[in-house]
Amino acid sequence: MAKVSWKAGAMLSPVPPVLVSCSDGERDNLITVGWTGIICTEPAKTYISLRPERFSYEIISKSREFIINLPSSHIIRSIDFCGVRSGRKLDKFKECRLTKEKATQVACPAVAESPISIECRVTDIIKLGTHDMFMADIIAVNVDERYIDEKGKLRIEQCSLAAYAHGSYFALGKKIGSFGYSVKKKQTKNRKK
Ligand SMILES: Cc1cc2nc3c(=O)[nH]c(=O)nc-3n(C[C@H](O)[C@H](O)[C@H](O)COP(=O)(O)O)c2cc1C
Repeated sequence: MAKVSWKAGAMLSPVPPVLVSCSDGERDNLITVGWTGIICTEPAKTYISLRPERFSYEIISKSREFIINLPSSHIIRSIDFCGVRSGRKLDKFKECRLTKEKATQVACPAVAESPISIECRVTDIIKLGTHDMFMADIIAVNVDERYIDEKGKLRIEQCSLAAYAHGSYFALGKKIGSFGYSVKKKQTKNRKK
């Protein structure tokens, strides 16, 4: 079947609906962000794109730091809530009963219920259009020890990560491959000794 050509738009899916925490020193806030990703491996760099009217935009422009809390399916209701209510008038940590966790490098709190929290320091704010891009260095990564096995390996498949695609949330399904598996030589089961 042929593809129908639609007008250009922000269609890339899935994206992670991350819960970004921030603080102005007096008030801690949470904002759900879909426009995020990794832009460099070494140095580890990320970004979040925010509309200037967001309360979090004001806070992060001043503090120049934030935490990306990866989305787990267990807190998807709170993730949606933090994406439709502004922190200008309410305390989203309190409303969602999310637990504040002390970060290691930045002043704002992380979300304890998130399996992985990524501490970020803003390096550049790039004006783009509807959104401005907050480019940031990743300065610490904190992983819930429940998801680290006895060999020190992160069992990411146990983190119940969630995705966002075209207006809906999805729980990540089963593992269907791993990096480079398509070119890996098959191991022969009954190799002669
Ligand atoms: C799934 C989802 C993804 C979102 N992604 C973004 C985003 O990338 N950038 C943005 O500025 N707002 C985004 N929003 C909207 C904000 O989260 C929302 O306006 C929020 O209430 C702003 O909170 P604040 O005023 O406390 O900062 C998203 C909302 C949802 C539900």
